[in-house]
Parts: sequence; structure tokens; C-alpha cells
Amino acid sequence: MLRVLVVFGTRPEAIKMAPLIGEMRRHPDRFHCRVAVTAQHREMLDQVLQLFQIAPDHDLDIMRPGQSLFDITRRALAGLEQVIKRERPDLVLVHGDTTTTFVAALAAFYFQIPVGHVEAGLRTGDKYSPFPEEINRHLTAVLADLHFAPTASARDNLLREGINPEKIFVTGNTVIDALLATVKADYRFADPVLAGIDFQCRRVLLVTTHRRENLGEPMREIYLALRDIVALYPDVEVVFPVHRNPAVREVVQEILGRSPRVHLIEPLPYQDFVNLMNRCYLVLTDSGGLQEEAPALGKPVLVLRNTTERPEAVRAGTVRLVGTTREAVFKETRLLLEDAARYRQMAEAVNPYGDGQASRRICQALLYCFGLGDKPPEPFK
Ligand code: UD1
Ligand code: UDP
Repeated sequence: MLRVLVVFGTRPEAIKMAPLIGEMRRHPDRFHCRVAVTAQHREMLDQVLQLFQIAPDHDLDIMRPGQSLFDITRRALAGLEQVIKRERPDLVLVHGDTTTTFVAALAAFYFQIPVGHVEAGLRTGDKYSPFPEEINRHLTAVLADLHFAPTASARDNLLREGINPEKIFVTGNTVIDALLATVKADYRFADPVLAGIDFQCRRVLLVTTHRRENLGEPMREIYLALRDIVALYPDVEVVFPVHRNPAVREVVQEILGRSPRVHLIEPLPYQDFVNLMNRCYLVLTDSGGLQEEAPALGKPVLVLRNTTERPEAVRAGTVRLVGTTREAVFKETRLLLEDAARYRQMAEAVNPYGDGQASRRICQALLYCFGLGDKPPEPFK
């Protein structure tokens, strides 16, 4: 029996850890799985916990309005010291690149407890972009004992940094496990705004923004470009579930608050959100997770950033890195609204990030590494 403590704190970590927790719980003879949330996010985390029926064993409830990186680090570290001291697991499992992730890996290290890093090895090579995620991911890799790389190119990044190849497993991304279990062709929206949209006659642009390095002027530029686009195309509607960060909300309201055909709505429950993505025309985002989900659904993505740690779908042609200037966002969006051939080229469904089996592979690798299984998983290709 392997005693695993899963630690996370934000919406995307919860979505991507939920299938793995589910897989461990399906094998109670092999895994004793406990869950600790820092609750670096509150409402957005709770939406996911509720959907996947995860009742955390520990909830540090650290979120504060407008929290700084210092606040998150300090509060999460203090709380996790107590949690890990009580749990004393065989392994702490963390996900991705948030400050919760890095701090949980650090706390486990202080207790000399092994760390497993899910979604390991993504890199932009730019220290400040995304900020602070690029460095959080690096630091977590240094602290981790087992590295679950979603793709071969993530594995290669880790190998270049001198990580022992025997400690790296290419598993696919658990985000695709969650996606495939949630998207339904006949899905009906409970949300009245979504239920009221005519997806046959309207072209829906699905928009999200939240990155720290985009706060302020870059977001202002992005929203001005969207306002220009909506004014130009009467068949375009924007659906924008606005992140709860007050620094995002203020600028969104100011620039897009009175635009016709722009729906500024609360963060959507995950099942509404991915099914909306499945019906939309185009995704504009600075999110990491959306760059993985949209290609699997055949939806073009314009990435509102200057770098990406997810180059696979860019190479496949479904994702385009456009930056954050008003001019570039306007121009690239226009091209996809006007040029049908270009749109078709980008709308090819590709699945470079997973096949729905990532959680199973991670569990198999865990059992193998702790001497409870006889063979490692076959790598995701
Ligand atoms: C965090 C992660 C980022 C991840 C993102 C996913 C860090 C430093 N950042 O960024 O890597 O991509 O989550 O969304 O780890 N808020 C609420 N309710 C919520 C969530 C947030 O009110 O449920 C507000 C609070 O005022 C909070 C602010 O949003 O202070 C920012 O949250 P924070 O976790 O610090 O940063 P994110 O931009 O969400
Ligand atoms: N998501 C959601 N509701 C929303 C917006 C996003 O459930 O209103 C999901 C989305 O499907 C993806 C994840 O949240 O799985 C992405 O989270 P976010 O963009 O906040 O973080 P990132 O992926 O950039 O770390």
C-alpha cells in the first residue's frame, strides 16, 4: 500500500489532479490517497472539488484578495508544515507550476519525503515569462524525485537539465483524461447566457486572461482589440468568463463592460466551460490549460503571450503565439474570421498532449518505483 499525499491549490491543478485521484481511489488496495488543498484559489477551486466530488482531508484556506507571491508562499509553507508532519506520507504529489506546487515540493523536501511532479518538464527558457511559473516549475524539478512528463519534448527538457532518465516517465497530460470524460456532443448548458447563444449563426470567440505578466497594459491592449473586432463583425459574440482576480476584472469592465455582444460572465463550472469550448469558433487566451484542451477539440487558439511552454500544438499548427499588442491581436483574429482556408488549416483536431490514459500511466509508474509493480508503463507517444 502506497501512502500518497496530493497537494494543490488552484483551479487548473484541481482539474488536472482529479483524474489521478480518481484512479488511485479506484485501487484502494494499492493506494492510500489523501488530499491537501492550500486553497490558493477559493471559489474557482471549490467549483472543481464539487464537480469531481473531492472532499479534501486538509484545507489551508490561504487565499486573500489581491494576494502577493510572498503571501501565498508564506501561508502555504506554514500550513503545509503542519499537514505533512501529521500525514507523513510515502510520497507527496504536486502538479505543474503554481506557487502552491513549488512550496509543497519544498515542504516535502524539508521532511525528506519524496516528491512526484506531475506535468513536469515544460519550459519557455525565459525566467520572467510566464511569471513566476517558469521558475516555479524549475524549482519543483530540482526538488522532485519522480518526474511525470506529459510529452517527449518535456522529457527532453528534463534530460537536458541532467535529470536521471530512469526517474522520468512520459505519460500524456491528465488534462486530456478529464476532457475526454467531460465533453459531450449533446451537452445542454444550464447557464442562461450560454443556453441563449445561437452557435449555428454566431461565431463565438471564447476569451480568458489572467497571467500576472499580462496584468495592466497588455490586458488593456487585448481588450481594445476585442472591442474593435466585435464592432467590425456583427455575427461575432465574445464569451469571456472573467477570472476572479480584481486586477483583471477592473480593466475588463472598463474596456468591454458596455460592448454589445460581449458576455462578461463569472468563471464557468468546468463541464460548461469545456463544452462551450467544443462549440466555439476560436479561443483567445493566455491560459496554459486551454492551449492543451482546445487542440484536442479542433479549435484554433490565439495565445495572448510572447512565449509558450507548450510548443507541441504550435508545431502542429492549431495554436498561434500572437503576443499582446492591440494591433497583433486584431490582425490575427481578423485573419481567422476572413480567411476560411487559414481557419480550416488551424481547426484540424490534434492530440499532442494526451490520449486519456495519463492517470493510469502515472499510477503504474508510482507502483513500479516503490517496488509494488513489476513493470513501468509504456510511454505516451
Ligand atoms: C494562479 C497561479 C497561476 C495559474 C492560475 C490559474 C501562481 C503564482 N499563479 O494565478 O500559475 O495559472 O492560478 O488560474 O501560483 N481569486 C478569487 N477567487 C478565486 C481565485 C482567485 O477571488 O477562486 C482572486 C483573489 O483576489 C486572488 C487573485 O484572484 O488574490 C489572484 O489569485 P492567485 O492565485 O494569486 O493568482 P492567479 O492569477 O489566479
Ligand atoms: N476553466 C474552467 N472555467 C472557466 C475557465 C477555465 O473550468 O471559466 C478551466 C479550463 O477548462 C482549464 C483550466 O480551467 O482546464 C484552465 O485554468 P486557468 O486558465 O485558470 O489556468 P492555467 O491553465 O493557465 O494554469
